Amino acid sequence: MKQSVYDLTQQHRSIRNFKDEPLSDEVVKQLVEAGQMASTSSYIQAYSIIGVRDPEIKKALKEVSGQQYVVDNGYLFVYVIDYYRHSLINEKENGNMNTSFESAEGLLVGAIDVALAAENVALTAEDMGYGVVFLGSLRNDVAKVSEILDLPEHVFPLFGMAVGIPSDNDQGSPKQRLPFEHVFHENKYNADKVAQLEQIERYDKDIQNYYEQRTNGQRSETWSEQIVNMMSQKTRPDILERLNQKGFIKK
Ligand SMILES: Cc1cc2nc3c(=O)[nH]c(=O)nc-3n(C[C@H](O)[C@H](O)[C@H](O)COP(=O)(O)O)c2cc1C
Repeated sequence: MKQSVYDLTQQHRSIRNFKDEPLSDEVVKQLVEAGQMASTSSYIQAYSIIGVRDPEIKKALKEVSGQQYVVDNGYLFVYVIDYYRHSLINEKENGNMNTSFESAEGLLVGAIDVALAAENVALTAEDMGYGVVFLGSLRNDVAKVSEILDLPEHVFPLFGMAVGIPSDNDQGSPKQRLPFEHVFHENKYNADKVAQLEQIERYDKDIQNYYEQRTNGQRSETWSEQIVNMMSQKTRPDILERLNQKGFIKK
């Protein structure tokens, strides 16, 4: 019996080691078509997907990300917010759309559109037996990525996605998520501090066990520790400036 989409979601884990087996053009097309059928704010379709097969371009993008699987994969996608086509329509129709795509709301709309399309691609790829990993690391140098991919104004790279057949030695298991009741609030948000902290503590213990088991006791980190370490550093402080340069979030 074919597995349900629910089952598929429960098996997800990021894959970072792939077999040397390129995706066919037909599979690439199907994946993009799956992405395109995601819901899109007001039918705006404010994204594009750039497929990268050229090893030299992959190598250049790997210099930005620092991650080997940007090169070693079956195929690489780069997801961009794209209002370039809207800027052309604006010119052609003599419209007054700049306020829309240069606003904070325009940025949110574009980012949401990109994420929905990308997750459709990811799920479809996983359904076909491929593994995927998202690559926010491409935002380490947005200017460089824009140069490598010839991105015009009103186009902003959000993340990449490596896709491929998981290598045989990529053993692992899905990472446990936060407790259901911590993430799900019915009718109203429950900000009860004691309850929230208790749930986080429980999750911290589970994640600590998970890392201890996976690394034979080498790594023993709670989720809270991981999050504090990561979120206490100011990551990519140039992003607002880069967005402005590309014609985003000016209003
Ligand atoms: C937008 C986004 C960007 C990400 N960027 C990277 C990345 O640059 N490198 C990487 O190895 N994983 C990256 N990931 C994968 C996350 O680390 C991973 O999804 C998370 O740790 C949960 O693990 P799982 O996907 O195996 O369940 C990214 C995920 C998302 C959604």
